[in-house]
Amino acid sequence: MPDKDVLAGTALDDDIAVEPKLRPQWLAEYIGQKKVRDNLAVFLQAAKGRGDPLDHVLLTGPPGLGKTTLAHIVAREMGAGLRVTSGPMITRAGDLAGILTNLQAKDVLFVDEIHRLNPAVEEILYPAMEDFRLDILIGEGPMARTMKIDLPAFTLIGATTRPGLLSQPLHARFGIALRLDFYDAASLALIIDRSSRILGIRISDEAAREIAGRSRGTPRIANRLLRRLRDFAEVGGKSSIDLDTARQALARLEVDEHGFDEVDRRILSTIIEKFAGGPVGIGSIAASIGEDRGTLEDLYEPYLIQAGFLQRTPRGRVASASAYRHLGITPPLRDGSLF
Ligand code: ADE
Repeated sequence: MPDKDVLAGTALDDDIAVEPKLRPQWLAEYIGQKKVRDNLAVFLQAAKGRGDPLDHVLLTGPPGLGKTTLAHIVAREMGAGLRVTSGPMITRAGDLAGILTNLQAKDVLFVDEIHRLNPAVEEILYPAMEDFRLDILIGEGPMARTMKIDLPAFTLIGATTRPGLLSQPLHARFGIALRLDFYDAASLALIIDRSSRILGIRISDEAAREIAGRSRGTPRIANRLLRRLRDFAEVGGKSSIDLDTARQALARLEVDEHGFDEVDRRILSTIIEKFAGGPVGIGSIAASIGEDRGTLEDLYEPYLIQAGFLQRTPRGRVASASAYRHLGITPPLRDGSLF
């Protein structure tokens, strides 16, 4: 039976258990995302030189690319503490006030899924980010007054897969915006090599490259596939993962050569077979394959677009020639030529 979740970009239970061990601790150990790394190194050095906390950072990009890892690294590089929470976990303004008043100077507060903060909580964040001040409303009606409490100078790191859903005032309060992109296969192979050494797994270079090419540009998926392939190697009586073992195990996991799973293939085949290759709206695709529209937009589309299988046009999604070929269908002629 295929492991339906093996290609999920979101964290699964056993990822949560093993990821802290695999996480690079310092920026110098972080592989890939060169632009982000280089810029962040400058901002960290400058802030440390001035003795200031780092300016607030907004991290955007698909799940599994290392947003939480970067928050840990920033705190460590600054010699500061880290508090981790998420938008949906902070339900009341009082929850956030409690977190903020317990921070120490230069601490990092990491808020994952920051686009899901409730608006009343967000209001508290504005003066906290701008002036390190908490404005708390005490009482109700005409007797209500605001109490101002000074906060330690801290760094907020907000992470989101959906920057478009962030309110403008919140967006504007981040001095540093870093966008994480899918990793290239060479970086993923280096990450797999590093992880295999930490986990004590022997793997050949060719096998590491094979996993890298099927990990959808996502370290979390690469590390998960590595652990599953170790299972196949061990049970098969192999002391290391070689290319043959890797290919056989990946076939059994139904991970194809692009790392696509069943849903990716259904998205492409639906556009091609039911909607003549597109353009078709994302809502129609979602309804047709019985998946949630947000899941398609957040988890599936970004990689299909980046890998060149799907195009987003003003009139809807269009399957590319590579999508046809991937499904073994001859691409149609468009405007008299193969597109
Ligand atoms: N493990 C997961 N992501 C990583 C990265 N970007 N660099 C090094 N190790 C990692």
